[in-house]
Amino acid sequence: MKQDIRKAIFPAAGLGTRFLPATKASPKEMMPIVDKPMIQYGIEEALACHINEIVIITGKHKRSIEDHFDYSVELETNLKKSGKKKLIEEINKLNRINIAYIRQGYALGLGHAIFRAKPFVRDEPFAVILSDDIIPPEETLLKDMVRLYKDLKCPILALEKVPMSEIHRYGVIDGVKEHDGVFRINNLIEKPDAENAPSDMAIIGRYILTPDIFDILETSKPGRGGEIQLTDAIRKLLKTRQVYGFLYKGKRYDAGDKFGYLKATVDFALRNPELSKAFKAYLLEVTRRFRA
Ligand code: G1P
Repeated sequence: MKQDIRKAIFPAAGLGTRFLPATKASPKEMMPIVDKPMIQYGIEEALACHINEIVIITGKHKRSIEDHFDYSVELETNLKKSGKKKLIEEINKLNRINIAYIRQGYALGLGHAIFRAKPFVRDEPFAVILSDDIIPPEETLLKDMVRLYKDLKCPILALEKVPMSEIHRYGVIDGVKEHDGVFRINNLIEKPDAENAPSDMAIIGRYILTPDIFDILETSKPGRGGEIQLTDAIRKLLKTRQVYGFLYKGKRYDAGDKFGYLKATVDFALRNPELSKAFKAYLLEVTRRFRA
């Protein structure tokens, strides 16, 4: 049966200020978690859900993203000469997908980035994946959301309960539980202070949206931080249709933050068969050293 969600938008035009100076001339999305750039984890997650049409919203200094998902004849020739067939297969694995690139121009916010994808998405429902929220490959968050969309036919936002001390970093919802893990959203606020937050349920970087969001984004004014916010546009959408939240209880790494990035690196290194044994021993040694 044909799947409803075939397309995904990856906003990747942000300035990456939290990682300066590393991101001065190279994209945050290309920072590696062990041996893969951050954005590749998100793309593999989309492919695992049979979402095969990808658009990446890029900007200045982001050309290496395009090069990463392209063939590199020079590299291939060299690897061939040294008989590294497995590595060739690994680097070419993702070249076969259909990725479109749209430049954002001015980085005016997440809502603006999503609006730029309108000609690609047209009139279909679609997924949005924020690649600095890394979900381990064994988790089924996006799959569950795609499945839920089949029933609900309404926008769905991934939610996570976060400590109130961190709530100011997220879009936050007010909602009523409909059934297990599924909430009807009544309101949402972008990055509220803990005192004004309507709940402890934060929006995390996986969305399923419907194309009516584009009409709202087209006329959206800047909100929090002077940026055109996706959260504000979804709040407006509530006037015309139901929006749902799906509460995620699995593991997520906020790799857009230095501490989260380090946690992701350590955990992914521990699960890497080539590294895990030596790395575990090293971590134990470091812990002992710091305890002493
Ligand atoms: C964006 C959204 C925010 C959401 C967050 C999830 O914020 O604007 O609503 O909670 O992603 O990661 P950003 O992290 O880009 O500032």
